[in-house]
Amino acid sequence: MIVLGVESSCDETGLALYDTERGLLAHALHSQIAMHQEYGGVVPELASRDHIRRAIPLLKQTLADAAVSAHDIDAIAYTQGPGLAGALLVGASVACGLGLALDKPVLGIHHLEGHLLSPLLASKPPQFPFVALLVSGGHTQLMRVDGVGQYELLGETLDDAAGEAFDKSAKLLGLGYPGGPAISRMAEFGDPAAYQLPRPMLHSKNLDFSFSGLKTAVLTVVKRHNTNICEQDKANIARAFVDAIVEVLVAKCMSALKETRLKRLVIAGGVGANRQLREALNAAAAKRRYEVFYPELQFCTDNGAMIAFAGAMRLREQPDAAKREYGFSVRPR
Ligand code: KG4
Ligand code: ZN
Repeated sequence: MIVLGVESSCDETGLALYDTERGLLAHALHSQIAMHQEYGGVVPELASRDHIRRAIPLLKQTLADAAVSAHDIDAIAYTQGPGLAGALLVGASVACGLGLALDKPVLGIHHLEGHLLSPLLASKPPQFPFVALLVSGGHTQLMRVDGVGQYELLGETLDDAAGEAFDKSAKLLGLGYPGGPAISRMAEFGDPAAYQLPRPMLHSKNLDFSFSGLKTAVLTVVKRHNTNICEQDKANIARAFVDAIVEVLVAKCMSALKETRLKRLVIAGGVGANRQLREALNAAAAKRRYEVFYPELQFCTDNGAMIAFAGAMRLREQPDAAKREYGFSVRPR
């Protein structure tokens, strides 16, 4: 079975073809980062318009790269939400328009399920069950995953998501958008002893997170410098921020593994690309003989491959989940 995946929830247009027998056949992605950069964040209207411009050329490229005819597609999976309403509508209309034209069934996929299953696209995928840490721009969740569709929420952020904390703190430091990679690079040059920032909820008895206080702490330190903040100060603050957030994320993952008595940890979502987080997780897991799995770097942030894959996994469990019903709806929240 060949599933076409369409992702357009935020600022990446992603198309991919996944074959349940041969694996990922091809995928194509266009990132709008350069377009939104001058505004310091994603401008929803610009995002929607760009998805419209990119979707069909990327679809053609994906079909050509996979050497597959559109008629060979068995089902079309698209991101139904959460995400920006206008952006989601573009992907949904592309998927449903194609479905109607080609007489193929379509199914809506939860964006987070796409992220959650993305480590299974790797050459050495984890076996179920596992604990998953989902760290993206909009979400921070710990889940117990027993199989496709079998997800138990163990804990989540009470306010900002981890990626949001990265982005907002980077903005406070005058680093560009997206802030995650920028603050991470800056932190490499920082002195770890220069500043101490809070580790919110590190010792709470549950698996929930809270990151808005950390961002406020960054703001307080930045304000203390007035306008004459030098590059070294910025690097020191970046280092303190990264150390704090990484320590909390790692500690909560270890607690989740201990609580569930599972031995496998899977990281998904954009922040999963973070080098400092990966190093700290690998070290903590090795000490306790846990295994950690990551998606390939290219599949950490938004992409069509994870949506095609999630669609294929859903259809394997429930073949009638895709329908020839094209009155699509999106679910931004
Ligand atoms: O999963 P994703 O592409 O989109 C959402 O579904 O939100 O995640 C984007 C988030 C952004 O907040 C971005 O700053 C963060 O992931 N991110 C990183 C890194 N790469 C992306 N954060 C820290 N370090 C990185 N290397
Ligand atoms: Zn995402």
